[in-house]
Amino acid sequence: MLQLNNITYKKKNKMILNGISAEVKQGDSICLFGPNGAGKSTLLKVMAGLIEPNKGVYKQGNFTSKPVGYIPQQLALFPNMTVKDHLSFYKKMTKQKDREFIEAMLNALSLNEIKKKKVEELSGGMARKLNLAVGLIHKPDIIFLDEAFVGVDLAAKHDMLRWLSLLNEDGVTIVFITHDWHVIHHLAKTLWVLEDGQMLINFRLNSYRKKLRSTSSLTAH
Ligand SMILES: Nc1ncnc2c1ncn2[C@@H]1O[C@H](COP(=O)(O)OP(=O)(O)OP(=O)(O)O)[C@@H](O)[C@H]1O
Ligand SMILES: [Mg+2]
Repeated sequence: MLQLNNITYKKKNKMILNGISAEVKQGDSICLFGPNGAGKSTLLKVMAGLIEPNKGVYKQGNFTSKPVGYIPQQLALFPNMTVKDHLSFYKKMTKQKDREFIEAMLNALSLNEIKKKKVEELSGGMARKLNLAVGLIHKPDIIFLDEAFVGVDLAAKHDMLRWLSLLNEDGVTIVFITHDWHVIHHLAKTLWVLEDGQMLINFRLNSYRKKLRSTSSLTAH
């Protein structure tokens, strides 16, 4: 379990996170939701261990021994390198030897068919999928996604959601930021609503999702 205890983060006397307390259970899928400037990206960075809070305690416990997967909103790709080059580079860097996992991910994200293309030749949606794939190549146990679905069309969104749902069903914990209700509906088990650096709502959607699933199976018969 991850534990956030009274997390406070200030920058130049501006209070960006103001006493946030919550916990993350293994296998959960949490959406951070709220208006622009609410502090979502800052909280995600604290949780991914990229920045230190000024006050409060953040414990990762025995959650994972692997590095976390952090997918930034800005694409972390090299324009002149091909899709294949990116995958080889990150595979080597993370010492990932699980070929089966990588193949499954490339198939799920429909990246196999564009392996020879350079990043500068990719559409926005394809680049987003590659950005996701390189961030997940080491098969992390916990994934942080900062608006990873911006600008992707329905087909690409579907590929990404299906792959992330599969990982989540396999026990991988996901914490993600989105403004897209379609993504929330399909991926979130828990919703955290932030405003002015505070947690307004911490709401479990799991039972709601289960109810929806049983309703849809009833209507299917
Ligand atoms: N490095 C920084 N220096 C000063 N202020 C910052 C810094 N980073 C963030 N802020 C401020 O902190 C507040 C929260 O920023 P943050 O990026 O976490 O919000 P957000 O909820 O992710 O917003 P958005 O939906 O627009 O991405 C904003 O007012 C922002 O201007
Ligand atoms: Mg943000």
